[in-house]
Amino acid sequence: MPVDAARPAGAHAYGPAERAALYRVIGERRDMRHFAGGAVPDELLTRLLTAAHLAPSVGFMQPWRFIRVRSRALRCELQALVEAERLRTADALGAQRSGFLRLKVEGLMDAAEVLAVALMDGREAHVFGRRTLPEMDLASVACAIQNLWLAARAEGLGMGWVSIFDPEEVGRLLQLPHGARCVALLCLGPVHDFYEEPMLQRERWARRAPLAQVVFDDTWGRGADWLVSEA
Ligand SMILES: Cc1cc2nc3c(=O)[nH]c(=O)nc-3n(C[C@H](O)[C@H](O)[C@H](O)COP(=O)(O)O)c2cc1C
Repeated sequence: MPVDAARPAGAHAYGPAERAALYRVIGERRDMRHFAGGAVPDELLTRLLTAAHLAPSVGFMQPWRFIRVRSRALRCELQALVEAERLRTADALGAQRSGFLRLKVEGLMDAAEVLAVALMDGREAHVFGRRTLPEMDLASVACAIQNLWLAARAEGLGMGWVSIFDPEEVGRLLQLPHGARCVALLCLGPVHDFYEEPMLQRERWARRAPLAQVVFDDTWGRGADWLVSEA
């Protein structure tokens, strides 16, 4: 994403180097499944979780809860649940089964850290912004995870979001209270290299759609001819 240093968007814009850094981290964040072991110092992990906790949330409900999985035995049990669901997903994919099974879809055992992210319990009390769209709690948690993802990339750490698991089984294992729901197992830590493009694109599973395919004018499907194509 090129940043036109000469034309900041407004009086409160950051300087060109800061804007370039922001677009750079957005462009270079990758979902990582290969990790180099190592460790994440407590201070850095605290900084990343602070970034996550600064995310926007519907009605300011802050529905995210983070569980740092410190026990190796617990991590192994989580990995077994992910593996079981990976096989069920493969079966559900029919003709794409073997292609899916060739993909690496998690790095749970190699990542320095595993964080389980859950929606908190008692969410039904929060109606502001959710009366017609209850899933806005999940959207808020996704904002927090994206903050963490971007901050981790800027710190040189890789992160992978694993959602291939049965939330009931994971919830039992992590002793979540009734009503709470795990939505992510985050693998986090040092990596040897960041993928240059989404791994699913490299493996020809899917490609990033052109921007013009997802932006409309006025009504669904009407092309936005004002989009400026990037050089
Ligand atoms: C909500 C969510 C759940 C995801 N779950 C998984 C997963 O279980 N396993 C996996 O390999 N990747 C998972 N991903 C990563 C996506 O495959 C990845 O974001 C996408 O291929 C684009 O690649 P990029 O993130 O490197 O740009 C998930 C991403 C999101 C946003």
